[in-house]
Amino acid sequence: MAYEKMKKRVYLDYNATTPIDPRVLETSQHLLKVDFGNPSSLHREGQRARSAVNQARAELARLIDCEENELVFTSGATEAINAVILGTYYQSDAIRGHVVTTQVEHPAVLECCRFLESRGWQMTYLAVDSHGTMDPGDLKKAIRPDTRLVSVMHANNEIGTIEPVEEVGAIALEAGVPFLTDAVQSLGRLPVKLASWNASFAVFSAHKMGAFKGTGLLYIRRDQNLPPFILGGEQERGQRAGTENVAGIVAMTEAVRLSLECQTEEMVRVQKLKCRLQEGLQSNLDSIRVSGHPEHCLANTLHVAFQDLEAEELLMNFDLAGIAVSNGSACNSGSVQPSHVVEAIGLAERFKRGTVRFSLGRETTAEEIESVIQKTIDIVRRLRPGGASC
Ligand SMILES: Cc1ncc(COP(=O)(O)O)c(C=O)c1O
Repeated sequence: MAYEKMKKRVYLDYNATTPIDPRVLETSQHLLKVDFGNPSSLHREGQRARSAVNQARAELARLIDCEENELVFTSGATEAINAVILGTYYQSDAIRGHVVTTQVEHPAVLECCRFLESRGWQMTYLAVDSHGTMDPGDLKKAIRPDTRLVSVMHANNEIGTIEPVEEVGAIALEAGVPFLTDAVQSLGRLPVKLASWNASFAVFSAHKMGAFKGTGLLYIRRDQNLPPFILGGEQERGQRAGTENVAGIVAMTEAVRLSLECQTEEMVRVQKLKCRLQEGLQSNLDSIRVSGHPEHCLANTLHVAFQDLEAEELLMNFDLAGIAVSNGSACNSGSVQPSHVVEAIGLAERFKRGTVRFSLGRETTAEEIESVIQKTIDIVRRLRPGGASC
């Protein structure tokens, strides 16, 4: 039985991380207990581990439709994003360069961009509309002769909005600029189409799909180059040195396989639960706003702002009521400041401090959603001025 069920808690923070799928755990246990060798060792234990890594790479290439040598295993998406953005900077001969990204990217992208700015590069942070969608026309205007990279995420982790990456990729291709997309929230939830997006680079993370934290994947299209980003060995064709996280890699591969296997049905199921949650809150509570695109949005993500309430008190009350939710990206939790995404979509002043992200997943049930609706109504009525008696 999974952790949160044992504890009788409702876990609705799947965009922050997911519980480990028991089947994934089962698959990887052999690598931890029996075939635990170092893939670089020549003995049988090592060669079995090497073979597990090779098989995982072949399987992942098949699952996301690319070539094996286009994949690099990393410690997660943050590392992969750093490798692309900082690598673009380090391998450029130019003292000055330019990167185009959006205002709603994950902090891993934004902070790498700020680092480049501190080194004299220029950035364009494209604005988004009130749904969180960027305008490909703005990208077209922003690209300059010295633009070295375009970085636009596929699905936003806070509000769920899906960006028009196919148009972005076409514009970048026409301009001859490499295109990085952060597809962390997409794999297993949305079709990932690296070729039709014209993605030069893409990043993925295992722990958003029922596998372990500390494992990620970087796709580098065969016509692209990046300098090695971790030095000290020949692993990952010298691109990323360090003994491979064999169990993590195999677990991630199994998690991707399992997620893709049931993606369509699962997203239909989760979308229904999300719609019920939205409807249950909107029909019982005044003065709430739902953000994220009404159609082009992750099926599992519902971002709600409660007027005149503070995220911190909301999250604390949810936690006490046995519900794990977040107010945005995990990295922002604990902070009472409205997130950069909430600022970028221009949420009204009275709403932007009281945001809650409900992100659903494989273990979410209809009963849980009914209980979350009821508890949310109770919490909000209690916290609102004059609401103690409600
Ligand atoms: C959209 C997005 N990009 C990047 C990351 C970073 O991934 P990782 O935890 O694998 O470093 C996350 C994780 O929250 C994310 O949601």
